[in-house]
Formats: sequence, structure tokens, C-alpha cells
Amino acid sequence: MNNINNIAEAKGNLGVLIVGLGGAVATTFVAGLLSIRNGYGKPIGSLTQLGTLRIGDRSNNEFPLIKNFLPLANLNDIVIGGWDIRADNCYEAAKQAKVLKLEDLEPISEELENIEPMKGVFDRYYVKNLTGTHVKKGNNKFELMEQLRADIRSFKFMNNCSRLVVIWCGSTEIFFPANGIHSDLKKFDQGMLDNHLDISPSMLYAYAAIAEGVPFINGAPNLTNDVPALIEFAKAQGVPVAGKDFKTGQTLIKTVISPMLKARMLGLNGWFSTNILGNRDGEVLDDPGSFKTKEESKLSVLDHILQPDLYPLLYKKYSHQVRINYYPPAGDNKEGWDNIDIFGWLGYPMQLKINFLCRDSILAAPIVLDLILFIDLAARVGLKGIQDWLSFYFKSPIHEKDKIPEHDLFIQQMKLKNTLRVLGGAKPVSHTNENDEIFAEMESENKLF
Ligand SMILES: NC(=O)c1ccc[n+]([C@@H]2O[C@H](COP(=O)([O-])OP(=O)(O)OC[C@H]3O[C@@H](n4cnc5c(N)ncnc54)[C@H](O)[C@@H]3O)[C@@H](O)[C@H]2O)c1
Repeated sequence: MNNINNIAEAKGNLGVLIVGLGGAVATTFVAGLLSIRNGYGKPIGSLTQLGTLRIGDRSNNEFPLIKNFLPLANLNDIVIGGWDIRADNCYEAAKQAKVLKLEDLEPISEELENIEPMKGVFDRYYVKNLTGTHVKKGNNKFELMEQLRADIRSFKFMNNCSRLVVIWCGSTEIFFPANGIHSDLKKFDQGMLDNHLDISPSMLYAYAAIAEGVPFINGAPNLTNDVPALIEFAKAQGVPVAGKDFKTGQTLIKTVISPMLKARMLGLNGWFSTNILGNRDGEVLDDPGSFKTKEESKLSVLDHILQPDLYPLLYKKYSHQVRINYYPPAGDNKEGWDNIDIFGWLGYPMQLKINFLCRDSILAAPIVLDLILFIDLAARVGLKGIQDWLSFYFKSPIHEKDKIPEHDLFIQQMKLKNTLRVLGGAKPVSHTNENDEIFAEMESENKLF
């Protein structure tokens, strides 16, 4: 193992605490992990398990697997736990989610049955279309957060974990913007004591994790840890954090197609995206408050990639619309349609139509695994605060407010892979013509830049 940066080895158990442990994404991830560990399935879609890195210049290459190049946690060392507002164990919940077939769940049913959620912190004000039956009680939000901290500590102790990660795979909460209460830790602490309405349950989980020195990932579009108070808290505690909203289906496609349009200087008149989706996530998103959170996350992508201010001729006037329709027969098999009106040479119009018949949780599960392994690595390296090299996985990457987020999937991928190269002690790949003598000379004399 190349580990010249002396990154601490991934020794001992890695506890993974999932918020929303009984949900479609969480159970598909957990069942998949157990299947893979038992040799029943393969980790398709996971960069940490299947991906390689090109190391060296192009005349002298090596292509090690990422998991061999860096000391990532071993899948056998992961211990799963978490919270839900319904008491079903993971086997019951996975059956209800109807993502994986019974024949795939049966061989691991016993292990799944043994994974039971702790009581969650929940308030219907933030997720209108859900009812919680397995919830904590407390006098105020601070007390509830303290109960979550106690859960984290006891899980760590009971499962003999050397490290932990907390990941939000819970439902999408209603939209509300950051405000004064989130501006610093003192105000936030007081806000918890005062039961301030702009402190949602997901924020309490994020706070509890950070307070316990545990990395936190947000897979939903909620504000959660994307507020100055919690980012500063993460930095002060030396904790890496990431988010938000897993980039799985339509936005994944959007962040591949739109950079292509810009790369070729093709114009855009309009992009209409619609989805039908029939799982519980679809039901939650049927509420306008939760949908608004998702819509904000989905809409921001195109403007950032296309830069209408820089290319007014091509992108100033395009119409971008996103719809999500709850349609129960579709279950977890989301169907997305994109109608893209583009224009080329002399303004002649053309169209692209994309019909993506995807499986939401099948696309999300490998992302959950990669994020857990990468953020655990980040913690062992000593990285803290926002991990923007993990933007690759998110629709709406959290970012320092003085920096613009990067949405283009291939730039995100380059950043991720170069970060991994550097962490492993290799040179980042610049994709310049490093073997050309004249070029190399210019580069060394800085004539090119
Ligand atoms: N599947 C994808 O492709 C994808 C992509 C991006 C984001 N997401 C987001 O991931 C989240 C999970 O998606 P899903 O399809 O698994 O939804 P789901 O409805 O099946 O699961 C959510 C789970 O969270 C639980 N929950 C809700 N509030 C909670 C709380 N306060 N504490 C503890 N548990 C709580 C629910 O009981 C449920 O079991 C959603 O927010 C969704 O928008 C999913």
C-alpha cells in the first residue's frame, strides 16, 4: 500500500449511523452491503470498490484500484445502526420498500432483522406527509440533541467502534432559508433551548454528530448542516462534513449533458424535466414545502454550469422547469423525461429527448457507500469542514459562501480523483501534454500561464 502521507490505517470497526434507517435508500444500501459481504452480489456503481486511478505519466502508467491505493475501511469492518421514526427492523423495512426482491433479501434476512432503529427526533411541521410512531421525547430541541449524542456514544461503545460516520438518508424536510439563528454557534445553541422553528430535526442530528467528533453527510436537499454555525462548529471540532442531496437520476444526466452543450457552444432555449415516482420519498415530495426544497436543489444546477452572464447569446433566456409527480404504481422505479430545446449554427433549433427509466435507490446505494468510506478517510487524514472534493456525489454541493459550487460531473470527478492521488502521495494529473519537450519547457518556465 502506497501511504506516504502516513494516513492512519483503517483499524477496527467503523460504525455507520443512518438517519432514516428504515427508508428505501438506507435499506437498499444496508441489504446490498450485507449481500456483497456474503458474496451474493457485486458493488456495481461504487467508485471505492471498482474504480481505479491513473498514476504516473502516460508513458509509464499504473492503474491501482482506489481501495488498494488508499487505506479505505474494509467492508467487513462496517457496523450498521441508526434511527427511524418507525420501529420496523431493516428486514421488515426493506420488504416494505419493495426495491430489492424477496429472493435477494432472504439469504441475509437474519442479519437484517438484527438491525433495529433507535427512536428518531421528529416533528411533523418539517415533513407534513409522514407520521412518526417511534420518536424521542424531550423538553426542548437541545435536550433532544443531547439524547442523540448519548445514542452515538452508546452505539460506539456497544459495538466496539474505533470510528463512526453519521449519514442523513431521512425524508426531505420543508424549505426554509438560513437566517440569523444559524449564523453562529451561540445563537444556534440558544435557538435549540428556545425551540426555534428554524432548527429542524436534521440539524439536531448534524449538531450531535459534530459535537461527538463524528463526520456527517447529508443525502437530502434539507438545509441541515449547510449553515455557518454548523460549518464553523465542524471546523472547530476537526470534523469533515459533506452534502447535500445525492446526485442520482435526472440531475446526474443534467450535469453531463449541459457541460457538453457549453463545451460545443450550443445554445439552450429550454429544459423541461418531469418525473413520476411512487415511493415514500415521492409521497413526501408531494407536499409543496418538501418539494420546494427539492426544486431549489434541482434548479440551481443549470445556471451554474451554463454561466448565462458569460454567454448571454447562448443561455440568457432559457426556460428551466422541474416537476415531480407522485404516482404510486411507479414505486421506486422513477421515470424521468427531459425535453431539451437547443439551437446551433445560425440559431437553427434542435431537440434532445431523454427518457430515463431508473431505480432511485439502486443508484443511491453505491453513493452512500462511497461517501461513508471517503469521509472516514478524510477524518483519518485530518481534513475538516466542507469536503468539496466530494461534490461529485451531490446535486447541490455545500460550499464556502465565497466560492461558487462546481456542478459539472467531469470536473467534479477530476477534482475527486486528483484529491485521492494527492492523498496517496501521487502527482495530480493535469491533462496537459506532459511528454512534449517544447511544452514541458514552456510549462517549467511558466510561459504558458
Ligand atoms: N433515492 C435517491 O435517488 C435520492 C436521491 C437524492 C436524495 N434522496 C433523498 O434521500 C432521502 C431518503 O430517500 P428514500 O427514498 O429512502 O425515502 P424514504 O421515505 O423511503 O425513507 C426516509 C426514511 O426516513 C425516515 N425519517 C424521516 N424523518 C426522520 C427523522 N427525523 N428521523 C429519523 N428518521 C426519519 C422515514 O421514516 C423513512 O423511513 C430523501 O430525503 C430523498 O429525497 C434520495
